[in-house]
Amino acid sequence: MKIFRLRSVKLVLIGFIIVNLVFFYYTWNSFLWRRISRALTGEATDTKPKSEAAHGPKISPKDKARNANKHIRKSITIVFYGHYNFEQDLRPSIESILDVVPNMPILVLQEGAAEYAYPPVSFERNLTSGEEQTVHFMSLAFDVRRTREQLNPLAAVHTKYALLMPDSVRLSSKNLLQKILREMNTKSGKAPAQRVTVAPDEQVRRLLLIPFAGNSKTYSSCAKLNLDLPNWTMELEARNDTTHCDLFLQKHAILIDVATLGAMPEPFGLPFPEMLYVQAKIANLTTSVFPQSFLEGRKLFASFHTKQRRLELRRRQFREMYKKLQIKRLVRRTHRLGGKAAAREGNWQPHSPVLDAQFSYSNFSLPAVTDIDLFGCERTTKSCIGTVYNSRPFYYYLGKHTPPCCLDKLKTTFNHVLEEFENVGIRYWLDNYALKSAIETNQLSPDAYDIDISFNVQDLERSNAMKKSQSKPHVDNEGFYWIKATDGHYFRVQFSKVNQVGVNLLPYEISGNEVRASGFFGWKATTFASDYLHPMSTVLFLGKSIMCPNNVLEYLEGKNIKVKSDNVAPEEE
Ligand SMILES: *[C@@H]1O[C@H](CO)[C@@H](O)[C@H](O)[C@H]1NC(C)=O
Ligand SMILES: *[C@@H]1O[C@H](CO)[C@@H](O)[C@H](O)[C@H]1NC(C)=O
Ligand SMILES: *[C@@H]1O[C@H](CO)[C@@H](O)[C@H](O)[C@H]1NC(C)=O
Ligand SMILES: *[C@@H]1O[C@H](CO)[C@@H](O)[C@H](O)[C@H]1NC(C)=O
Ligand SMILES: *[C@@H]1O[C@H](CO)[C@@H](O)[C@H](O)[C@H]1NC(C)=O
Repeated sequence: MKIFRLRSVKLVLIGFIIVNLVFFYYTWNSFLWRRISRALTGEATDTKPKSEAAHGPKISPKDKARNANKHIRKSITIVFYGHYNFEQDLRPSIESILDVVPNMPILVLQEGAAEYAYPPVSFERNLTSGEEQTVHFMSLAFDVRRTREQLNPLAAVHTKYALLMPDSVRLSSKNLLQKILREMNTKSGKAPAQRVTVAPDEQVRRLLLIPFAGNSKTYSSCAKLNLDLPNWTMELEARNDTTHCDLFLQKHAILIDVATLGAMPEPFGLPFPEMLYVQAKIANLTTSVFPQSFLEGRKLFASFHTKQRRLELRRRQFREMYKKLQIKRLVRRTHRLGGKAAAREGNWQPHSPVLDAQFSYSNFSLPAVTDIDLFGCERTTKSCIGTVYNSRPFYYYLGKHTPPCCLDKLKTTFNHVLEEFENVGIRYWLDNYALKSAIETNQLSPDAYDIDISFNVQDLERSNAMKKSQSKPHVDNEGFYWIKATDGHYFRVQFSKVNQVGVNLLPYEISGNEVRASGFFGWKATTFASDYLHPMSTVLFLGKSIMCPNNVLEYLEGKNIKVKSDNVAPEEE
């Protein structure tokens, strides 16, 4: 028994010593790692390492260079992406990098569709001694024969950082690579102007943007990005500082933590890098522009033909991106010559959907111009409102308001009908939810998907369009589609035949003291006292004075529509 106890005491003692040894080893090791990394990133200005270095063995310049290269290779993979095979400068760009940092890991990502990938680009290098094949080409195209891992481009990156590089670059020294790496590996400390090293396993939630020397000074590179997804809106504003760019518009490379990149839903989504910036913004990543630049290689897209071809592809990419992000309203605030200063809503003269390097002049004394483009709701497109169940269109379930283009067309249709009614003298009144929002805000509700106008059925024959639509659908000379409803004797005016956004025209019959629905049913068809219509009142709606019942709060209450009385807009008398 005694022997056994003695033995267990010994065991505990040995265990304790082992744990201590392991602990000592790791402490020493991480201390060593920090010293090495400090030496490699060239932080020789620190006073402490200097005194330490004096004791240690001297490193020859050649070894130092070799160590520096090793550090760069272990930290960064250069990823070429966003090039176009029909006009590229990949081979000289890759050569120029390998000449400066031999064995640099380089990954060339190839966009999937045949248009981008054709003609194929290959790279061969006559390896000198000590050189390995570190350049890899990878297609992003779906291939059913590959595993999920093989299809993931980030699985081919084995460094902490990726340097996303545009085509056509010349590296003259590794100096810039060392600097950006040092910048990325440090963050501001507690004290002002203090920089502390990030831990090797810490995820850097930051994009470091490195511009190119040839970028135009005439144009601004930097834009602020705002996404208002519930309102289907993306807003871009040119900025004249370069410290915080949500979107960089001229040629540049991006240094990013691979873990940060991997956390994005679609790190290599097109258009590149614009789609990346949208995701970065949503993930609250910070961006900073490095004060030094890369050098350019051959000038690409100099000919009209290749320029057009690239622009056409980019246009398509942007359209797809807006669709994917469910963006239907693009607001651009720029500084431009000869632009109209006032904001203009509507898409009668749509601008290119592409955001390019000439987004805004860098001279911010030029007039500020706001361009607003709406997409997705035309005469020839299907209504973006779709089927309505339970008084709720589908986008309600996505947490969104009515698309701005639909609201726009709804207003257009409303104004058209109103003009017709006033021209021919039909007695009408704004009704139901449109009336409610007119009283509350003088505007259309952001969730409106139709507008109800009620009218005196005796006046029906006065409108030619309405009269015609009684027997069959009628397209008026401005393209609006007048149709009789199938679920009752009321009418609808749609923006067009296919685009069903529109206004309901509800006929009412006045008999004695009562006003009753003439041939339609449901909650809208309540009977009410004719006193509400004698005399008529008006309400300001969409900038116009519109007819409505008097004592309107009580009138709406009779229809179970509660007006938020704390924000009732002043009624016109
Ligand atoms: C590689 O070397 C061979 C023979 O030395 C030469 O014919 C070939 O052109 C070289 N290739 C490249 C890409 O430099
Ligand atoms: C959406 O736009 C409307 C007006 O256009 C605005 O009142 C509302 O605040 C916006 N919604 C959000 C979530 O920004
Ligand atoms: C940037 O714009 C602001 C006003 O928008 C102006 O006050 C400032 O002087 C501009 N800075 C530069 C460097 O142009
Ligand atoms: C980004 O910041 C916003 C506002 O501060 C916050 O609501 C949102 O959750 C953040 N998103 C992420 C991914 O951290
Ligand atoms: C900027 O634009 C203003 C107004 O057009 C002009 O007077 C000024 O000379 C421009 N400044 C520069 C640096 O081009």
